[in-house]
Amino acid sequence: MYKNDIILKAAKGEAVERVPVWLMRQAGRILPEYRATRSRAKNFIEFVKNPELACEVTVQPVDILGVDAAIIFSDILVIPEAMGLPYQMIEAKGPYFENTLVTEQDVAKLRIADAGDLDYVIRAIQLSKKALDNRVPLIGFAGAPWTIFSYMVEGSGSKTFSKAKKFLYTQPALAHQALEKITLSTINYLKGQVAAGADMIQVFDSWAGVLGPEQYREFSLKYISMICDALSPLVPVTVFAKDAHFALHDMKSLKCNTIGLDWTINPGEARTIFGNTKTLQGNADPCMLYADTKTIEQEAKKMIAAFGKQRYIANLGHGLYPDTDKERVKFFIDCIKQN
Ligand code: CP3
Repeated sequence: MYKNDIILKAAKGEAVERVPVWLMRQAGRILPEYRATRSRAKNFIEFVKNPELACEVTVQPVDILGVDAAIIFSDILVIPEAMGLPYQMIEAKGPYFENTLVTEQDVAKLRIADAGDLDYVIRAIQLSKKALDNRVPLIGFAGAPWTIFSYMVEGSGSKTFSKAKKFLYTQPALAHQALEKITLSTINYLKGQVAAGADMIQVFDSWAGVLGPEQYREFSLKYISMICDALSPLVPVTVFAKDAHFALHDMKSLKCNTIGLDWTINPGEARTIFGNTKTLQGNADPCMLYADTKTIEQEAKKMIAAFGKQRYIANLGHGLYPDTDKERVKFFIDCIKQN
């Protein structure tokens, strides 16, 4: 059915002729074509809510960079909004929530979202599937409940996430209530993405690294596990928990196909932990793409030598940085594809 579905094969542990590659945050950030499309919307939120524009930038990296998968252009923060906490995206600063979770009433007021509340994402997926015309699979995504909870409590990004962590220490039962509502909303949303055509799902736990192993198990992995249980019978699921080196052993029992790794993790050690039970994804340092082409080529070769060609999806260890040169990104992708 697909002209190129090696990423699905790699995720399922089937044999592939070469290593598949895509890049976190490939839809946006580095492409002039993205900025041109974005300038047609009033602001980021209007852009995300416009299925035609979202479809355009979803397909751009496939056309321009030659990646083996598209990822739907959206944001993890659409879930808090659908649950009753709207956000703004402030230029050069990032997300900002006017209302945050503080009290029991705040948590009680949160609604459990369903896919219908996010019909603009569903529509963007349907349009993107049409535009991709089975060239490559489409990745759907959501934030992990802990990361979403962090934004809902902090109201923005943070260096320490001390407000969100304070919540865990002072109101643990209430934190679980909120996390459960976020999890149920996320499962409804991701099932909607799959019904609309998403071929695989990635869960981003961007702020995993601020918790210690015990709290991570209790307040994050428990809920990621519920998402994996609900989604993995439908499509391959990837869990990317940034800075969660301490949780890798625990992640073995998740019902997911692929584990995303950040650049602090040694490929050999990850293979030893997961054996042949999971596909590994990652883990180049996004800053490596600032290097000259000779270095980039060496790094691409090293990645493939370290992870092996099977059960591996080449990617970065976190999203692309906005000032990365598009030509070097393309060069890196070509290096992976030639090996
Ligand atoms: O991977 C892709 O290209 C698909 C689109 C995507 C976006 N955000 C678009 C976006 C994805 C997968 C995300 C996920 C996301 N959003 C995460 C998890 C991944 C990670 O990086 O850790 C997080 C934490 C967010 C929250 C968020 N959205 C922040 C902190 C910001 C501001 C800073 C920035 O540029 O990342 C955003 C805005 C955002 N989301 C942009 C894009 C392309 C830039 C906005 C712009 O065009 O001005």
